[in-house]
Amino acid sequence: MPENAAWWQKSTVYQIYPRSFADSNGDGIGDIAGIVSRLDYLRDLGIDVIWLSPIFASPMDDNGYDISDYQDIAPEFGTLDDFDRLVAEARKRGIGILLDLVVNHTSDEHRWFRDARTARDAPLRDFYIWRDPAPDSGPPTDLKSVFGGPAWTLDPLTGQYYLHQFSRRQPDLNWDNPDLRAEIYRMMNWWQDRGIAGFRMDVIDLIGKDVDKGITADGPRLHDYLREMHRSTFGGRDLLTVGEAWSATPESALLYSGRDRGELSMVFQFEHVTQQWHETWGKWQPKPFDLVAFKRVIDRWQLGLADDGWNSLFWGNHDLPRAVSKYGDDGQYRVESAKMLATVLHFLRGTPYVYQGEEIGMTNVPFQRIGQYRDIETLNMYEEHLAAGRSAAAFMAGARANSRDNARTPMQWSAEPHGGFTTGTPWIEANPNHDRINVAAQSDDDASILACYRRLIGLRKTLPVMQTGRYAPHLSDHPAVMAYERLLDGERIVVLANFTGADVHLDLPDALKGTGKVLIANYPRSGDLGAALTLAPFEAFAIAFDSKPTG
Ligand code: NOJ
Repeated sequence: MPENAAWWQKSTVYQIYPRSFADSNGDGIGDIAGIVSRLDYLRDLGIDVIWLSPIFASPMDDNGYDISDYQDIAPEFGTLDDFDRLVAEARKRGIGILLDLVVNHTSDEHRWFRDARTARDAPLRDFYIWRDPAPDSGPPTDLKSVFGGPAWTLDPLTGQYYLHQFSRRQPDLNWDNPDLRAEIYRMMNWWQDRGIAGFRMDVIDLIGKDVDKGITADGPRLHDYLREMHRSTFGGRDLLTVGEAWSATPESALLYSGRDRGELSMVFQFEHVTQQWHETWGKWQPKPFDLVAFKRVIDRWQLGLADDGWNSLFWGNHDLPRAVSKYGDDGQYRVESAKMLATVLHFLRGTPYVYQGEEIGMTNVPFQRIGQYRDIETLNMYEEHLAAGRSAAAFMAGARANSRDNARTPMQWSAEPHGGFTTGTPWIEANPNHDRINVAAQSDDDASILACYRRLIGLRKTLPVMQTGRYAPHLSDHPAVMAYERLLDGERIVVLANFTGADVHLDLPDALKGTGKVLIANYPRSGDLGAALTLAPFEAFAIAFDSKPTG
């Protein structure tokens, strides 16, 4: 750990999915003015940074992850003036704005692609990835799109296929073209000059691909391009950069986020997510949560990045199910388990990310009909799974567990219609439980999930051991309990958490015993940790000691 931790190593980030956060004009779609109107709420929560999912001009085939103009704002979200106002108003409250940099692909409506597809020798043809048909006139390779079907679409005008790892309306950019890279860096500098705090980088591990060899993630040129990007854009500035990297391992994370590497601040890694997916049906087949496997992943990452590199910490985002539904209990123990999950995550070493609504314990949505879903991936996969012979009921059970729309229903501000998100008709239905799970119901309640998040976020600001202390895991094979210490200069924090809805009796290892001060707890608890204790359902607490362990 460097002597002086960077500002983003002490920060907590809050992710906003603008479409679903707050609608200021009643058109049913969240917008930038809506976000501005909720900045005081975020200041009171204590967060330092907002990661804004894309707000750029877009036909919204993938809700903005298909950008048609990198330097303009989608009209449903507002204008560049609105954006500047957001940056300024957020700054007044000590909050920075992270933009979502989607540069593996653009929309098919981007002017670059419109030009590229006009002729084989069009000036910008090489900004995208074109290949001749296979001898049978089919796609050049058997690469599949993440959203279903082939990753190649034939463009009849020029008789070649273009690559799209996501929807056919999201053509992949050709990062091997230096002019394309220069255009991206110019655009990034333009946003940096507008005063942003950094970038979240969409599927950044895909930009160095070698598609003819079938290599998409973690390709041979990935780290060269990231170092070049760093030199050409944020290298001289003090920004937070976080790359989405589904392929990342603790070893490659050291390349991305190593102190002297000149790449990124950190990556989002997903090993703890994908290890919970089904072998055949992936996330579309619910699988029970396996705590021991989960802890193994967390330990590998915490220990693997102990001396260099940096971890991001998150339970959810706009692509993942609601944390309390996936890892906790969204029924009887919703409040206890949401607090437990928050406690476990925020005491780990790394930068915590809170996804909108997580801080009030929002849950997965109980949609019954495929027509209630809006997400392109869910809709495409429904067709694909049914064509492969799966029953609609089996798919729907998977969607209720893991569809991206679980995270995309409107933010629940109050018990009013649509959770107070809009006065119009929301673009996606609100979760019916907004009448009891909402911000208004928790704002003034010290025992609420929201109060727990405020406290955790506040503690990180004041406790150096929470920011940079060493991580030491315990009880790794225990099927119900997660236990770890954080250690710094004689200071010590012990975190214990029960991931089940039953009492758990524990014999504590000597290292965890002692008498200290309770920093946070979701049940009444003294700071005395003796030889044995019983953890109540989903109980979690953190205790600070200023001495060596006893016993
Ligand atoms: C990852 C984003 O998080 C997801 O929402 C999007 O669909 C894909 N990348 C494609 O941009």
